[in-house]
Amino acid sequence: MIELRQLTKSFDHDQTRAVDGLNLSIRTGETMVLLGSSGCGKTTTLKMINRLIEPTEGEIFLNGDNVLDASPVVLRRKIGYVFQGIGLFPHMTVRRNVEVVPRLLGWSRAKRRARAEELLELVGLAPDEFAGRHPRELSGGQQQRVGVARALAVNPDYLLMDEPFGALDAVTRDSLQQELLQLQRRLTKTIVFVTHDIFEAVTLADRIAVLHDGKLQQVGTPKEILTAPASDFVRELVEKPAQQLKTFQEAGA
Ligand SMILES: Nc1ncnc2c1ncn2[C@@H]1O[C@H](COP(=O)(O)OP(=O)(O)OP(=O)(O)O)[C@@H](O)[C@H]1O
Ligand SMILES: [Mg+2]
Repeated sequence: MIELRQLTKSFDHDQTRAVDGLNLSIRTGETMVLLGSSGCGKTTTLKMINRLIEPTEGEIFLNGDNVLDASPVVLRRKIGYVFQGIGLFPHMTVRRNVEVVPRLLGWSRAKRRARAEELLELVGLAPDEFAGRHPRELSGGQQQRVGVARALAVNPDYLLMDEPFGALDAVTRDSLQQELLQLQRRLTKTIVFVTHDIFEAVTLADRIAVLHDGKLQQVGTPKEILTAPASDFVRELVEKPAQQLKTFQEAGA
């Protein structure tokens, strides 16, 4: 379980409050989607959870332990992170990219190799074909798969995913979303998934947290968010997609 308590991050001597008094509990095994438009504080929230950014105020607990008391190495073991814009190391092969955290933790060469191959299989990239390539020799979708494999490398309990399918066409994105759902059924991680796409949010989420200007607007199941928006902002966010959904449903009825 991840608990955010009064989590706040200010920049520029408090001129910008990227995240502002955020309270949120993410249950073990659930996929929580942080949904909101550009600049609302999604990435900042995610980075504070694994201490890539330190909070200005507030606390974060992982299964009751304060994250600020944990060493970054321990956090890398517990938390897998998929960066916005993929973030693979361009000079490293696919295999080396996947092995980054296992290396950091001192795994043997044989163990790293076996794990990288297992993960590449898992995300649908044949190791024989892809392990020795560099990121520039892969399509955008294949690179995003490597990003997911890298995040899973040491079998972390938690997965933080920052718009991992953001740069993809609708068809590829849809297939990666379905694969993530299947993976989640097998692995049952606790996932915080960031997106600005309400369709993606509804597809993947057990619950959605809507953010606006660093503040939490509403937390609820996709159905609750769609059918009972708690503020004008959320209503506006869901109104159009909800209408489209209704049209789809009526067309299918
Ligand atoms: N290092 C920084 N210094 C100053 N302001 C920052 C810094 N990092 C982020 N911000 C500001 O904090 C706010 C939230 O940024 P954040 O990256 O969390 O947004 P986001 O929701 O992830 O947006 P996007 O969907 O565009 O990725 C923005 O207004 C941003 O300009
Ligand atoms: Mg972001």
